[in-house]
Amino acid sequence: MKNHEQVETDRLILRRPHSNDVQRIYDRYAHDPEVTRWLAWPRHESLEDTRGFLAFCDLEWQRGPVGPYLIESRAGGRLLGSTGLSFETPYRAMTGYVLAKDAWGNGFATESLRAIVEIARRTNVVRLAALCHEMNTASWRVLEKCGFAREGVLRRHSEFPNWKPGEPWNVLCYSLVVNEPT
Ligand SMILES: CC(C)(COP(=O)(O)OP(=O)(O)OC[C@H]1O[C@@H](n2cnc3c(N)ncnc32)[C@H](O)[C@@H]1OP(=O)(O)O)[C@@H](O)C(=O)NCCC(=O)NCCS
Repeated sequence: MKNHEQVETDRLILRRPHSNDVQRIYDRYAHDPEVTRWLAWPRHESLEDTRGFLAFCDLEWQRGPVGPYLIESRAGGRLLGSTGLSFETPYRAMTGYVLAKDAWGNGFATESLRAIVEIARRTNVVRLAALCHEMNTASWRVLEKCGFAREGVLRRHSEFPNWKPGEPWNVLCYSLVVNEPT
């Protein structure tokens, strides 16, 4: 078992995904058109897509100090969504988050991002960044509540395959300096 495979907050458990999570991930958020509208990955159309995500999670956990996490409610263990850290270099990582629709509006994304920032701090990340569509207000509000600074607009940077596929769109770039290099 690696360090930080499971982390708890007041209301949430963030944990490494397992192969037996496939059906719940698909049912709770990965197949939902509204939930996946502003995401960079295509909505899952079958359990095979979700198995592909879980294989990717394993590779990420082998490649970096940590990787993707599932977010569960501490009260009852319900799957709420996912988040994680993706390492571009040992000091630079990206993050993101997605929650099932019935979990929106409770501050869970903010609570989960604060936990991710703490994991980033413990794994020696210096720069933690996130990208989001400028119309995704809930997402950039979460980043701002967690102290991320808006660095600017990356013009024609990212595709949103569940919204308007085949065309790159402007995205907001946010970052947080987690550890100052010594
Ligand atoms: C983005 C997402 C994770 C936010 O989750 P959440 O748990 O509802 O977020 P929080 O409750 O922690 O915070 C959301 C903030 O945005 C605000 N907000 C939400 N919708 C808003 C809107 N349409 N306009 C303005 N503010 C909005 C909330 O009021 C809250 O701010 P506040 O605490 O100052 O009131 C969730 O909506 C989601 O999973 N969306 C689909 C996937 C997605 O877009 N992921 C991000 C990709 S970059």
